[in-house]
Amino acid sequence: MSGDPARFLTAFAQALATMTLYAEGHPARERAIDTAYKELHDLQAATVQPLFTFLGDEIVYGNLPLKGLGGWDWSQRLAQAGIQRLQFSDRVTKDEFETFLDEILARLTLSAIDTTMASPMRSSAIKYGAVGVRGDASIDAESSHLPTATISYSLAEETDTLRWVHDEVSAKGFIPLVEAEAVVRSLSVAMHSGRQFMIPLLQLKEFDQYTTTHSLNVSVLAMALAEFLGLGARDVQAFGIAGLLHDLGKVRIPIEVLTKPGRFTDEERLIMNRHPADGARIILTSENRLDLAAVVAYEHHIMLNGEGYPTMQFRRDCHFASKLVHVCDVYDALRTTRPYREAWPQERTLAYIDGRSATEFDPVLAGAFTRMMRQRETQVAVVVDKEAPIAAQPAAGG
Ligand SMILES: [Fe+2]
Ligand SMILES: [Fe+2]
Repeated sequence: MSGDPARFLTAFAQALATMTLYAEGHPARERAIDTAYKELHDLQAATVQPLFTFLGDEIVYGNLPLKGLGGWDWSQRLAQAGIQRLQFSDRVTKDEFETFLDEILARLTLSAIDTTMASPMRSSAIKYGAVGVRGDASIDAESSHLPTATISYSLAEETDTLRWVHDEVSAKGFIPLVEAEAVVRSLSVAMHSGRQFMIPLLQLKEFDQYTTTHSLNVSVLAMALAEFLGLGARDVQAFGIAGLLHDLGKVRIPIEVLTKPGRFTDEERLIMNRHPADGARIILTSENRLDLAAVVAYEHHIMLNGEGYPTMQFRRDCHFASKLVHVCDVYDALRTTRPYREAWPQERTLAYIDGRSATEFDPVLAGAFTRMMRQRETQVAVVVDKEAPIAAQPAAGG
């Protein structure tokens, strides 16, 4: 029996619908769960790690749009409940599958499930989420005990996805755009999921994750600043993508150079400094809709006074989006621990940006950024997922 993704989704939705109607133990409920479980089993016989992405009207299976689900309105509902990705990375038992259905149902009905209890029991073979929030403020909207400064987000799904995006680019030279856009959408949902606007930032825990966590942070900061400046939703999204992809050219840098703990040799510095041009080239060759992201990738290390790299033959002004991403990029780089220095505290970083306003940074953007960060300071969420201690980190600049 060959598996079929559309048939699995239909059975999955049927099981969820039936579960809202019948209590545990009812034959109809058991039957619906059995059918969905069997469809999953068949699907995994054909594809070991099926991956679904729900993007409102669109459903993507692996990286191909899924057809044949006309009138299936669950994609929208799942996406709205913060479930934009669903992946089965290994075989699951019937019990695990049922627990997973319960969790999904709880999210869909916004019932306050105790996620701190549920998470450790959850099978790691089933990964889902958009925001992957634990102790989610949107689910537990009534809760008043959540500390504003330290709501603990898990952007683990987004981190995994972006790492996969980088692997794909590195292997195939091609950007899986649907996934990249899904990550940006998730970040935007995370930013707005609390009662107040928040800036959820990842804290680096493992040195080889630097490019991933840094890219996610720059994406969040770029969207936050664009929104703070009053730009419209489409621009905010485009800036989020540009932030996410600004360092894409780093996939071409050998890992020994990227993670070198000491100073760069001249040759290594040259290799490092190629990443803006490489990134722009990768973006343009894989997707011409991303011209803004390509410009940003190319210009994000160029300072207002023309210093930085790549060297410009003729002095010219950089794109507004590049100048915006540049501020966010420097902020996140300074706030992260490096092998040669500790992470800078918030105020010192903001003072640095203020101090270099009009030389390195566009004064309007630097002013808006520091104002935004001072206003939002208590709402910055520390995002920690992995337990691993902070190890040596790459010397890679910004
Ligand atoms: Fe960079
Ligand atoms: Fe960067």
